Amino acid sequence: MVEARVPTDEVTLPPDLEIGVATSSWQIEGASASRGRCIWDDFAGQPGAIVDGCRADPAARHVERVEEDLDLLGWLGVDAYRFSVSWPRVLPEGSGVVSGPGLDFYDRLVDGLLARGIAPAATLYHWDLPSVLQERGGWPERDTAARFADYAGVVADRLGDRVQRWATLNEPWCAAFLGHASGVHAPGWRDGAAAYRAAHHLLLGHGWAMEQLRSRGVREPGIVLNLIPVLAETESAVPAARFVDAVQNRLFLDPLGGRGVPADLIEGTRALTDWSFVRPGDEAAIAAPLAWLGENYYSVTRVAAGARTDGDDREAAGFPGAPPLRFAPRPPVTDMGWEIVPDGLVTALRMAEAALPGVPLWVTENGAAVAETVDGSAVHDPQRTAYLQAHLAAVVRARAEGLPVRGYYAWSLLDNLEWAWGWTARFGLVRVDEDDPTRRPKDSALWLRARLAERQRHPAA
Ligand code: FCB
Repeated sequence: MVEARVPTDEVTLPPDLEIGVATSSWQIEGASASRGRCIWDDFAGQPGAIVDGCRADPAARHVERVEEDLDLLGWLGVDAYRFSVSWPRVLPEGSGVVSGPGLDFYDRLVDGLLARGIAPAATLYHWDLPSVLQERGGWPERDTAARFADYAGVVADRLGDRVQRWATLNEPWCAAFLGHASGVHAPGWRDGAAAYRAAHHLLLGHGWAMEQLRSRGVREPGIVLNLIPVLAETESAVPAARFVDAVQNRLFLDPLGGRGVPADLIEGTRALTDWSFVRPGDEAAIAAPLAWLGENYYSVTRVAAGARTDGDDREAAGFPGAPPLRFAPRPPVTDMGWEIVPDGLVTALRMAEAALPGVPLWVTENGAAVAETVDGSAVHDPQRTAYLQAHLAAVVRARAEGLPVRGYYAWSLLDNLEWAWGWTARFGLVRVDEDDPTRRPKDSALWLRARLAERQRHPAA
């Protein structure tokens, strides 16, 4: 029996909290032949870049199975669905000629959501930069920001009449620093100075895209960050922890809040860059008023002083210019090695509210890769349910202390390509395999569905 697998120490979903699930284009779509190439296609082609060697196809075959996935969302009973638009599906060459069928796909998706009473929340950039733009230098080049704004306008022209909630970027820290400094994400660079340029141009692209969205009547344009509470293990780790906090959090929050690049980061990166790529007018463009801010929360970062002794500096390389450091997660951790700290979500939301007072907050991703067992058509994942429950309870606490949290989206609807981890890390509420596209709701999906069904919904005004 389904009910017998549902944990009993329940959290009650607040009636005015929007509940959704999230996905991203490259991770689920497949059908790469019907779009332009992107940097993740190229990265996946490099031996060893993705642990299990998986490629963009078939992924979760979402393009092929979009109707089934829409029905799945309807069955789950969510209020909202956060998806991302693939830039090279819309503009195969990054700019210029628009793909009609590419835009048609998202058009059908949006109409299918609305027909089921599900609010669409669209993200314009979840890391799949068109390869053509990478060949011209990618995000370290200023021109990419201008191309991004053009692309935002093209998508908003088609969908802006029906999609109100838009995110320009997903987690620009990852795009800039995992992509260009530690090299564990596409395009796989290990160039700290380039990562700072990329971070600035991502934010500039965000600011210019905000203008494009607003000029088309979009009422709720915003951005999604991955703010992470940073904890120093010891007194001697405080300078390194402060540096990590500057790169991870303040480099994004301060410019968005109109305060520019943090002075201590400019000082701490002198050996790498003089920041002359920040031009007059950029700060004002980046500080365009946000209608909302999304926070993707998974864990905290615990920083210890001194480099790792095994010589693996990839994690530290994500914070170019930082004093020697290593990460020291404490148990319990998920399969990703990410420490489970539900209260860290409250801390992250406080950080957002302090930096951007009054901006409505959404938890746009939260979830876990944990052990699960497949038993016929059932998939048992009690740790995922417990994780979601504990973090929803943290959202309830955050609201009780007055933080303006309006929504919570679980990551992810489906098992998918977890970037450099390929199929080896599963975050889905619904099981999907590379060689078996059957959608099998896990116990965590049944749990969420039951909570949604019993809720008395009163949408926030
Ligand atoms: C976030 C990403 C998302 C997914 C989760 C696990 O950083 O935005 O695509 O990979 O982590």
